[in-house]
Amino acid sequence: MLKGKTVVLGVTGGIAAYKAAEITSRFVKLGADVKVIMTEHAQEFVGPLTFQAISNNPVVTDMFAPPTRWDVEHIALAKAANLFVIAPATASVMGKINAGIADDMLTTTVMATKAPVLIAPAMNVNMYESAVNQRNMVALKELGYHFVEPGEGFLACGDLGKGRLEDPEKIVNRAVEILLATDELKGKKVLVTAGPTREAIDPVRYLTNHSSGKMGYAIAREARLRGADVVLVSGVRDLAAAEGVKVIEIDSANDMYEAVMANIDADIIVKAAAVADYRPAAPSDIKIKKMPGDMTIPLTRNKDILFELGMIKTHQYLVGFAAETNDVIENAKQKMVKKNLDLIVANDVTAEGAGFKSNTNVVTILRKNGEEKALALMSKEEVASEILDTIIEDMNA
Ligand code: PMT
Repeated sequence: MLKGKTVVLGVTGGIAAYKAAEITSRFVKLGADVKVIMTEHAQEFVGPLTFQAISNNPVVTDMFAPPTRWDVEHIALAKAANLFVIAPATASVMGKINAGIADDMLTTTVMATKAPVLIAPAMNVNMYESAVNQRNMVALKELGYHFVEPGEGFLACGDLGKGRLEDPEKIVNRAVEILLATDELKGKKVLVTAGPTREAIDPVRYLTNHSSGKMGYAIAREARLRGADVVLVSGVRDLAAAEGVKVIEIDSANDMYEAVMANIDADIIVKAAAVADYRPAAPSDIKIKKMPGDMTIPLTRNKDILFELGMIKTHQYLVGFAAETNDVIENAKQKMVKKNLDLIVANDVTAEGAGFKSNTNVVTILRKNGEEKALALMSKEEVASEILDTIIEDMNA
C-alpha cells in the first residue's frame, strides 16, 4: 500500500517512545521506507538500534554526527519525506515547532520539510490540558499540521485522563489516509451502507446477522481517500470510520431506509450492508416472558432498499453486493438486473477468507455491460480500492 513512499518518523522523549517501534513496524509492513529521527531525550527511553533493526535504515540522532551520506542530512530527509510523523510528540517539541525553534535534528527537519506533518501527542493529562499546550496545538492545527489526538485512560505517571499515545494502528491508519489522498472523487457525494440491521423482538432481543461492517467501512474510507464527501449509514458501533466520514448510526432496516432516502442526492451509492429481509411483525414493548412449549414469531417483509433505489434513481451510480452461497455469479447477475444496478459485487461467503467478519474477501465485480473482474483473495481495503477504481472508470467513460 505504501510502496515508494518515504515516512520520516520523529520520536521524542516520553515513556510512549517504545510504541514508536510498533509504528515503524506497521509502516514497514505496508511497504514504506521509514527514516527515524530520535531526539536526545527519546534515546533515554529506547535505543536507536531498535528502530535501525525494524526500519532497516540508519537512525538519525545527532545534528553534528558524521553524515551517513554526503549531503546536508536534515535537508535531504526533509525532501525525501512524503509524510512526516512525530509520535510520540511531547509538549516541548510542539512548543518548539510552534515557536519556530529549530535546535536539533528533528525540529530543523520539520521546519525544512514541505511534506504534510502528522503529530501524535503523548504526555501527562495536566501538561496536555495546560493553556500553553492547548494554545500551541490550536496554532499548529491552524498552520495545517495534522493531529491524532491522544487517548484517555491510566497514564504512566499514575494519573487518569487524556494524554495516552493513541493506538499505533490508528496513527498509521491516519498516516495512510494522508499519504494516499487523491482528488479523483472531489465534489462527489458517496453514500455507503455497512454492517447488519437489528430487528427488535422485544426491548432486549433482536434478529440480526454476522456482518461486521468491515467491508462497508473500507469502501467509505477508500472513497474518502479519493476526496469524496462520504456518508456512512452504519449498523455497527465498534469500528472507527476514516477521518471526515459522516456516520449515521442505525438499528433496523427501516432506520436504514430513512437514512438512505435522506441522502438520495449522492452521486454514488454502495450498499454493502447485510439488511434483514424480514422483521418481527409485532415487536413487544415489554420483555417477553418464558412460557411452556415452543414459540413462533411472525415475521413481516422489510422494504428492499436497493430495489427501491433502483426504481427511483436518476443520476446515481448504484452498487449492490450479493452475499451468496451457491450459483454465486448467476444469482448476482439476476440481482443486478432486478434492482437496476450499475455494478454488483458477487461475494461467495462460503469461500475461505471471504465474506462476513474476516479482514479479507474474495469477490467478482460484475458490470452492467457484462464485464466480469474476478479478484483473488485480498484485504477488504484492497477490494474497496478495486471497486472504487471500477466505479471511477465507468463514470469517466
Ligand atoms: O460486513 P462484513 O463482515 O465485512 O461482511 C461483508 C458482507 C458479506 C456483509 C458484504 O460484503 C456483503 O456481501 N453485503 C451484502 C449482503 C447481503 O445482504 O446481500 P443480499 O444478497 O441479501 O442483498 C443484495 C443487496 O441488496 C445488498 O447490496 C443489500 O445491501 C441490499 N438489500 C438487501 C435486502 C434489503 N431489504 N435491502 C437491501 O438494500
